[in-house]
This record gives sequence, structure tokens and C-alpha cells, in this order.
Amino acid sequence: MPKCVIDGREIDVPAGTTVIQAGLMAGIEIPHFCWHPDLPVDGNCRMCLVEIEKMPKLQIACNTVVSDGMVVRTTSEKAVQAHRTTLEFLLVNHPIDCPVCDQAGECYLQDQYMEHGLHDSKIQPEEKVRKRKVVDLGPIMLDAERCVLCSRCLRFEANVTGTNSFEFVNRGDHMQISTFENRPITHNYAGNLADVCPVGALLSHDFRFKMRVWFLEATDSVCPGCSTGCNIFIDHRDGEAQRLRPRRNVEVNKSWMCDIGRKEYKEIALDTRVTAARVRGTSGWEGASVPTALDTLADRLREAGTASAFLATPQATNEDLFAFRTLAEKVGGMLDFRVGDPQDKVRVLEDSVLLRADRNPNTQGCLDQGLGRTGVKEILAACAAGKVGALVLQGPELLRSAEALDALGRVPFVAVMATREEPLLDRAHLVLPAAMWAEVDGTFTNYQRRVQRIRRAFAAPGSATPRWQMAAGVSTRLGTPLPAATARDVFALLARAVPDYAGLDFKTVGAGGRGLPAGPEQIATQEARA
Ligand code: SF4
Ligand code: SF4
Ligand code: FES
Repeated sequence: MPKCVIDGREIDVPAGTTVIQAGLMAGIEIPHFCWHPDLPVDGNCRMCLVEIEKMPKLQIACNTVVSDGMVVRTTSEKAVQAHRTTLEFLLVNHPIDCPVCDQAGECYLQDQYMEHGLHDSKIQPEEKVRKRKVVDLGPIMLDAERCVLCSRCLRFEANVTGTNSFEFVNRGDHMQISTFENRPITHNYAGNLADVCPVGALLSHDFRFKMRVWFLEATDSVCPGCSTGCNIFIDHRDGEAQRLRPRRNVEVNKSWMCDIGRKEYKEIALDTRVTAARVRGTSGWEGASVPTALDTLADRLREAGTASAFLATPQATNEDLFAFRTLAEKVGGMLDFRVGDPQDKVRVLEDSVLLRADRNPNTQGCLDQGLGRTGVKEILAACAAGKVGALVLQGPELLRSAEALDALGRVPFVAVMATREEPLLDRAHLVLPAAMWAEVDGTFTNYQRRVQRIRRAFAAPGSATPRWQMAAGVSTRLGTPLPAATARDVFALLARAVPDYAGLDFKTVGAGGRGLPAGPEQIATQEARA
């Protein structure tokens, strides 16, 4: 392992580590524009120049590999002067757009200018080279004047999506970024272009002019859009999600997420959320408090006993699933989760990047907890034969199934935990308001068998409640309370009950998740089969 010294800090790094990476390992961020941790090095911006002992000229940190005994200075007079000069050069034709630019507050150029530049421009605004502004590329807006020609977007398109949408056109200070004939970006990963662009040249159409970023609070979470489980930030303000951004995890999604996943935040804010419980009475729906609704559910399960059935949902957290499974076992009812066979798609990639065919975040959690037991067909057959007195649905999937319609009509009591209003809820007799993924603490287990934390960003609307709490509430009413007051407690119980999760807790799962012991072999065999 080569040993080097950066700004007086000694550090051992793996062979092949570049100076910019070594700096980050030592907690030193070397200024940069074109370098990105998940893209090939291009070395074009010259912002990362550093002084290295025994080398006559400054070197670019992003493309210089650390050698043993190397001594690097990033803040020497020569290095700082180089940063200032590079910035001044980059800003020669840059418009004075910060007050109206949506990147302000998260712009590398703005940050670097405040940190290293602070020079007065020698160029008058009318002397600057004008380029195209407000070019609509579909999900992305291009402002070529703001571009620093770093080529990150080109490299993303060439190396991640393989779509090569961008090219540089013209020469010298007239050079600018463009798509062929201004064609829009049509792939499912366009949002990442706005993320990789270090300035306000590529902006998200969806988020543009919606909110100044300094008003936003970021909460770590995991995208619920498919079984990949991309790590994300939920950016929110006043209890409302404003956008989702990828959170880097080299084991799962690197720095990327798909556009389908990015739109998941809109589901949370829908004004059709189920915010209160309701029970079907003799003259139609009657509002009820959640405790009263849980009393009703407990009574019906007590009556039905083993003639009850439970269908879990792979949309739920591991904690929800554990509490639901515990309730089903207490009652002795039938149990499954495989509506639509998500288990067959959990590892199937839908494109060449991230998106998987299983659009549930926690099918693997259902499998790990052994929730595929009775069989959905068998449960429906029992319903159709009039052998089910109470059916509890952890999510509304079965209500949406046309084949289930007749069978459901034969069940005297159907309870459903739902997040959004839909006409199909009228097929139930009791509706319980469930909190959504951004409103709860918990874990999902992704297709790799990686357990990952989701965190509560804001409160659920109305009386919407985490599913595990509602299941635990019914267990309490049936005389066997779940010894857990929080999602963390439920996960501790789960870790004791499911051998592969032994020894895990919220702390050990941490920010980046934890792979389960049997994970990699299982992935290899199952992916080979897919
Ligand atoms: S548009 Fe953004 S990412 Fe692309 S070259 Fe310009 S500054 Fe770099
Ligand atoms: S690939 Fe799946 S998990 Fe990742 S962002 Fe897209 S929908 Fe979400
Ligand atoms: S970051 Fe090193 S040259 Fe651009």
C-alpha cells in the first residue's frame, strides 16, 4: 500500500488510488469540476492542480496516481494561484446568472468562486460570448452559456446509459454542448444529467424554479420504485417532499437513480391519500378512529380464528412484514404475499442500468421472512368456497386483481391497509390508513439481499399509521402484544427470529446497508438463471 502525505496528513492508500481520491480519504476535498467518482477520468478542467514534491510542474490530482512517499500540497501558494487562474478562465464567458439560476446553492462554480476566486471580472457583460439558453431537452433544460465544458454529461451518456446524446460543437470560446438537432433526452436516466452537471447548464425540468435548495432538508432513504433499492435523499420542506436525489452507494446504485424512481415523491403528495379509517356500516361507509377500527378488526379475527387469511405486501417494510406475520401466526390463519408473482421478477433487470422488473422495494424481505406460505391461489380458492371468515390485506394489490373479484365477494369481512384512495377500496369492509415509505422508519431488503434503512422524513397525513403499528395494535387486542414500541424494536425482534438477520440492528445496517451472509452466492446463481 503506497503511503503519501497530503497537506501534512499521512495516509496509506490502495495501489492505483489517484491523488484526488487519496485527498477525499484524508478528508481533504481538492477543487475539481470534471472529475466524478463514478465516471472515467477526463482531466480537462485543470481545476484540481496540486503541487507535488520533486515534480517541477503542478499536476492534476484527478489523473495522478499516488506513489509511495509522495508529498502533495493542495493549498500552497502555487496551487492556490492555479485554482484562481483556472476559475477566472472558466468565468470569462460565464453569465452573471446566479440570482436566477436554479443551481444556486448547490453549484460547484459558485462554491469554488467563493472559496478560491473572489476576483473582479476583467470582462464586461456585453463582451461575453453568447450561447443558447433555455433549450428544452424534455426532462432536462439546457443553458449552454453556463456550461464549463467539463464533459461529465458526455461521459455519463457514453459510459452509463450508452446513449451518447451529447456532443461538443464549434471551437474555442464558441464551443458549446448540444444534442444532435436539439433532440430531447428520451432515456430513463435523464435526471442524473442534472446531478452530474457541476453548474446550472443542465437542470431538471421537474424541479426547476420550484424551490431554492437552501430551504430544503435532506433525509436519507431508499427508493421504493423497484427491487434495486437505490439509495436516495428525500429533499423536503414543511412536511412535503420536493424531489428525490441519488445518494451514492457503490454497492447498489453508485451515484445514479432512474427517472421512474425520481417521480416516486409525487405519490406521497397526492391529495388522494387515505388519511382516516372507515368501516362499512348498514348504510355505507362510516368514519372511525384507528383504535376503533382496530377493535373491529380484532373482533372479526377472533370470530374467524383459523378461518382467516392474511396477504402481506412487498411494498411494506421488514418491520411491517414481521408484525403482520406475527399477527397471522397468532391467529393461525393462512398467509402469503405473492399477488402477481413478484418473486419471479425480483432479480430481473429491465434495462442495462438499474431498473428491475419487480416494482416492489421489499419482495426479498417477504421471501426472507418466509411469507410465501399458503399460496395466493389456495387462499382465493378458500375464499371462493366460503371458508374464509376474515381476510386482512396489508396492501390493496389483491383488490386490483380481476381474478380475485368473485372470491372476494364470498368473504364476509375484508380489511385493507391502504395509502391512496381508489374505487377498488369499496370491495373492502374496513379501510385502515397506512403511512407511506417517506413517513416511516424501517428497512427494505433489496434484490441483492442487502438490508437498507429508510428514515422518516416527515409526519404522515391525518391518522395514517405505520402498518407494523396497526398489526401490533391488533395483536395487543388479541392478548399477545408485540414487545416493541418503535420500528427499531420490531427490527430487533425480527433479527432474533430470522436466522440470516441475526446480529443486525438499525445501527449495524447503517447508512449504506448490510448484505446478508448468503447474499452474493444466491445472487450469482439467481442472476445466471434470469
Ligand atoms: S453541460 Fe454541465 S456536465 Fe455537460 S459539459 Fe457542460 S458543465 Fe459539464
Ligand atoms: S432503479 Fe428502481 S430503485 Fe432505482 S431509482 Fe429506479 S425505480 Fe428506484
Ligand atoms: S478535476 Fe482534474 S482536471 Fe478536472
